[in-house]
Amino acid sequence: EQVKVTLDINGKKHKLSIEPRTTLLDLLREQLHLTGTKKGCDYGQCGACTVHVDGQRVNSCLTLAVMQDGKEITTIEGLANGDKLHPMQEAFIKHDGFQCGYCTPGQIMSAVACIKEGHADSDDEIREFMSGNICRCGAYPNIVNAIKEVKN
Ligand code: FES
Repeated sequence: EQVKVTLDINGKKHKLSIEPRTTLLDLLREQLHLTGTKKGCDYGQCGACTVHVDGQRVNSCLTLAVMQDGKEITTIEGLANGDKLHPMQEAFIKHDGFQCGYCTPGQIMSAVACIKEGHADSDDEIREFMSGNICRCGAYPNIVNAIKEVKN
């Protein structure tokens, strides 16, 4: 049986009928074709699926879409302002905060939250906050530098 939910995604209201077991990740990728949010592990271990719900970061693979009724969701597609990249996106480019790029949307959503939630005062604090976002290419030092640049 389908359930009706209304979600505000990247500033746009969506009225949707979904199956109760649908994760927010699958809803974003498969129903709304917002494929910037990545599926790495699908069980909360890699951070590739990170989005913001009411301004807080969450692993969308661990989040049921029905629980988000009425909430504001921001994905990587909603970060830039028209043609103007978000400062964190600029900083990732400048500091080479990626190689293959698969983890990058999740890294950037976490990086934005890292500063917003006040966990970017030192390298250690940044590393701790970002520890749920795995990068197989090992771009970690560059990611920390990108966050520090936006913070300062
Ligand atoms: Fe959600 Fe890996 S896909 S944490």
